[in-house]
Amino acid sequence: MTYTSSTVRVPEVAAVPRHIAIIMDGNGRWATQRRLPRVAGHTRGVDAVRAAVEACARRGVEYLTLFAFSSENWRRPNEEVSFLMRLFVTALEREIGKLHANGIRLRVVGDLERFDEKIRDLIRRAETKTARNTRLTLTIAANYGGRWDIMQATRKLVEQAAAAGKPVEVNEDAFAEHLSMAYAPEPDLFIRTGGERRVSNFLLWQLAYTEFYFTDTFWPDFDADALGHAIASYAERERRFGRTSAQLEPQSQNADSLPC
Ligand code: FPP
Repeated sequence: MTYTSSTVRVPEVAAVPRHIAIIMDGNGRWATQRRLPRVAGHTRGVDAVRAAVEACARRGVEYLTLFAFSSENWRRPNEEVSFLMRLFVTALEREIGKLHANGIRLRVVGDLERFDEKIRDLIRRAETKTARNTRLTLTIAANYGGRWDIMQATRKLVEQAAAAGKPVEVNEDAFAEHLSMAYAPEPDLFIRTGGERRVSNFLLWQLAYTEFYFTDTFWPDFDADALGHAIASYAERERRFGRTSAQLEPQSQNADSLPC
């Protein structure tokens, strides 16, 4: 398992984030500003998804996770929900060959029970086709919610205990093994476009020590340069994971190891 809990072990940190998670917000406002229907913003949003995937692969980011549809997005008008479903299917059908050719592994996480069998089958085929790719893992969170994820992991732990017929040890690592993204490290960098500053029930467990970056740029305008700015901001952060600044300085580590 790749998942390592930042509250159990301090992870390795590099200038380029290993894992970037993005809330792609502002499609509707991007369209409204141009007097276009909201859904035109979602269509342009797919172009921005393509640009983000390419830029991450080029920069050596290993995991990119995109929040495409939250468990709460069903509350939107029916026509917009249906449009988003069709857009997802079309994008997947059109892009999967290219993703595969570029060494990208696709995963889709979320409560997929609520999707049509046709969509679920398409997802299964795309995941199987790209399963052995290693350049970048692109995760699409669809009908995903952080609380849903925590609940489904808890349910699995309880089921495991029931099947074992005895209490099982419950600790962070044992729990995280059942999270839907147990195959990925925790995000190093969380980006939200579109000006809002909230987490909106995204990877609640995994964001414990993630660096946050908010931008007013609407998702359809978030291009490779914008991603570069987010990564540059990340590179300037001091990630302490609960330690003090002095503990991170190389000379203080050396001083600690000198005999008194
Ligand atoms: C938020 O903008 C965006 C969404 C709810 C959908 C995001 C979907 C895509 C970018 C396209 C499909 C994705 C893939 C992976 C193929 P909003 O509608 O909330 O914008 P607003 O805040 O301006 O109203």
